[in-house]
Amino acid sequence: MKADLGNKFIEMFGPSKLPIKRYFAPGRVNLIGEYTDFNGGYVFPAAISLGIWGLLRQRTDSIINFRSLNMSSSVSIDLNQPVSFEAIDGWANYPKGIIKYLIDHGYELKGCDILYYGELPEGTGLSSSAAILVLTAFMLQHAFSKDKMDRVELAKSCRSVENNFIGVNCGIMDHFTIAHGQRDQAILLDCNNLNYSYIPFVLEKYRLVIMNTNKKRELTDSKYNERRKECDQAFTEIRKNRHIENLCQAYLNEVEVFITNPAIRKRARHVISENIRVSQAVRLLCNGDLTGFGNSMIASHKSLQQNFEVSGPELDSIVEHAISSPGCIGARMTGAGFGGCAIALVENGKIDDFITSVGAGYKHSTGRTAEFYIAVISEGVRYEGYDGD
Ligand code: GLA
Repeated sequence: MKADLGNKFIEMFGPSKLPIKRYFAPGRVNLIGEYTDFNGGYVFPAAISLGIWGLLRQRTDSIINFRSLNMSSSVSIDLNQPVSFEAIDGWANYPKGIIKYLIDHGYELKGCDILYYGELPEGTGLSSSAAILVLTAFMLQHAFSKDKMDRVELAKSCRSVENNFIGVNCGIMDHFTIAHGQRDQAILLDCNNLNYSYIPFVLEKYRLVIMNTNKKRELTDSKYNERRKECDQAFTEIRKNRHIENLCQAYLNEVEVFITNPAIRKRARHVISENIRVSQAVRLLCNGDLTGFGNSMIASHKSLQQNFEVSGPELDSIVEHAISSPGCIGARMTGAGFGGCAIALVENGKIDDFITSVGAGYKHSTGRTAEFYIAVISEGVRYEGYDGD
């Protein structure tokens, strides 16, 4: 499909002498550190080889047309008119939000046709929405703006659009990872100050398997925002007693002493313990203790299931089947949860049996067919050259 994108572009937008530029933004998996980002903690994600392509060709007027090979709707905006969120525009609100942000912040833009094609199924927890934001911000600046944001600014601006234009109160993990991915490297990011380091994620005896439950995340945005409010409440309760800058700076015993509401207490327990688990897991990985790293993944899933309550029957089922399969040393849900994908560390040579047995067990338990992909840890958003090169 990648090779054919240029022809599809011309079929949709017609021929022109102007060149078509091709860009790519990856999706991401989070290895460990879930719901810690907006609580000022650590995350440990990596960009993957599955992602979204964007093809762009300049026009001679002030119109920007968006089309996608994955979605039927097409949307156009005029750069001389105000840009606003319209529910009817669906997915195209993501690129629209970026355009509004770039205009409001003085970046030069020109009319163009844009075609997207994604291999990141929507609602699978692999960050298709962050990928389309980062991709659009990157390609428009690359094509038209003299002054370009650095990659930290790129991630911050995309998060701001998702928070303020789309209305999801997410953290910065996804945009940051998509902007900063490197081949074979996971990113240890401190979301409190955006300090980060690359940690080699080359597993030799194991592979990282992505397991798609094929249960679309539903109600994610409203549940996500609800969890965020609960975390804010936990933070406020503890801060009444001791000065902390974010929830991840609290101690577990403070949760038991200072928070009275049992649900809020559970949310805080997850966030604080998960943040500790990230540092432990990275230490284990750096010491070559993959079994220890796998155990941290299992503990993370349990905490997300029991304390943060963002898993669900499908994710729990696939993770349980994975953990009880020979050769699997760890598994957990990845991303926001409520459906979507889980990840597993599986011994080389046992992958085929793993996929067969987890697929069959999951089908038996839930009636659904899972999909499996071997994760390839890859570079972040990039320009790939002129189409046809
Ligand atoms: C989504 C959000 C991220 C993060 C994860 C949960 O992917 O976009 O900011 O909060 O959920 O860890």
